Amino acid sequence: MPLGGRGCGFCSVFHRLLIPRLPGIKISPGLSGPVVLSSANRNEEKTTGTKMAIAGEQHTLDIPSPPRRKSARSEQVYRKEMFLSRQRSPAGRIPYKRYLGAPIRYAGGKSLATGIIIEQIPGDIRRLVSPFIGGGSIEVACAVEIGIPTVGYDVFDVLTTYWKAQLRHPAALYERLSRFEATPEEFRRAKETLRQHWKKERRDLHWLDVAALYYFTHNTSYGPGFLSWPSYIYMNQDRYEKMIKKVAQFAAPNLTVEQASFETVLPKHRNDFLYCDPPYYLGRDTKMFRGIYPQRNFPIHHNGFDHALLKDLLNRHKGGFLLSYNDCPQIREWYADYEISTPSWQYTLGQGETRIGKYRPDGNHVKQSHELLIYAPPAA
Ligand SMILES: C[S@@+](CC[C@H](N)C(=O)[O-])C[C@H]1O[C@@H](n2cnc3c(N)ncnc32)[C@H](O)[C@@H]1O
Repeated sequence: MPLGGRGCGFCSVFHRLLIPRLPGIKISPGLSGPVVLSSANRNEEKTTGTKMAIAGEQHTLDIPSPPRRKSARSEQVYRKEMFLSRQRSPAGRIPYKRYLGAPIRYAGGKSLATGIIIEQIPGDIRRLVSPFIGGGSIEVACAVEIGIPTVGYDVFDVLTTYWKAQLRHPAALYERLSRFEATPEEFRRAKETLRQHWKKERRDLHWLDVAALYYFTHNTSYGPGFLSWPSYIYMNQDRYEKMIKKVAQFAAPNLTVEQASFETVLPKHRNDFLYCDPPYYLGRDTKMFRGIYPQRNFPIHHNGFDHALLKDLLNRHKGGFLLSYNDCPQIREWYADYEISTPSWQYTLGQGETRIGKYRPDGNHVKQSHELLIYAPPAA
């Protein structure tokens, strides 16, 4: 049924919901017809849909028809395609727009890669488990936009304390955040209190205060980074107030976050589909420019990370996984038996820096990513 025609109630609700969200799009009845979903939808039922021409643009947008059988899983498949359609970049320079649904900035975050990565996550899974949630762009998109029940973990307890406050007590977190002023002096005071907590020099802080101190000092910092220095772009009260409104308004009822290290998480979720975004492999043979994280927080995110153990656990995993890694010979060798793709997205981590280096010869701060996506389907 072409979009805009007479149809079932679901279609007209779909129509009403969709059209206002896609400004500049006109429906071209001549273009309606079957749409073959991307090869990434490996386990999913095929749906048919409608192609839309975008006014004044060369390309068309594939709009899937709503599922006939409205099981939770087929609903997810449908919502995934809708999400990807909305995220497609109209300019076409990059495949997808940055996803801004997560309330926290994060070094190495995947907000620009969300569309590319979600293409490869099957929509019809029972649950998504992410052992390295970080800033959670992918996880928030899966939970909120697609409706996949999602469980995130991270070893970094200050970060998971923030996530728990964000998910369970957004109003209380917002109230605490609204007490801060976005000034360098306030930043330094807050950072010192958080440092004392981190070093266990003081143990009297309420966990919601830890969450607020983390969010304030992290989200307004250069990098961003943990116990970093203030970013002058973010030392702006109007910008800060706008930013923390997102904290108050954020809701993701089917996302939970716990603190744990991956070696305890993977055996507990043997049959769940995993999205894994571990710290980069920074061995001797890596081509990757180490300065990719201006504020690398090595002691938290990288030191002692057992990449070989992760490989062994993933080799035994039954539920399937999508793994993102930096492109380097050791990772290619370890995962040679899996389907590997080399997607490209641009990111601007380090914007504002003045350093240049071997892998940034032109001094340009907009860098091409060098990442691998490694896919293992769920065992049949
Ligand atoms: C590349 S970041 C993830 C970024 C995330 N995908 C995003 O979009 O923001 C890697 C994360 O792994 C976490 N991490 C490091 N070692 C870990 C471990 N042993 N177990 C679980 N998480 C770990 C770090 O704290 C960090 O948040």
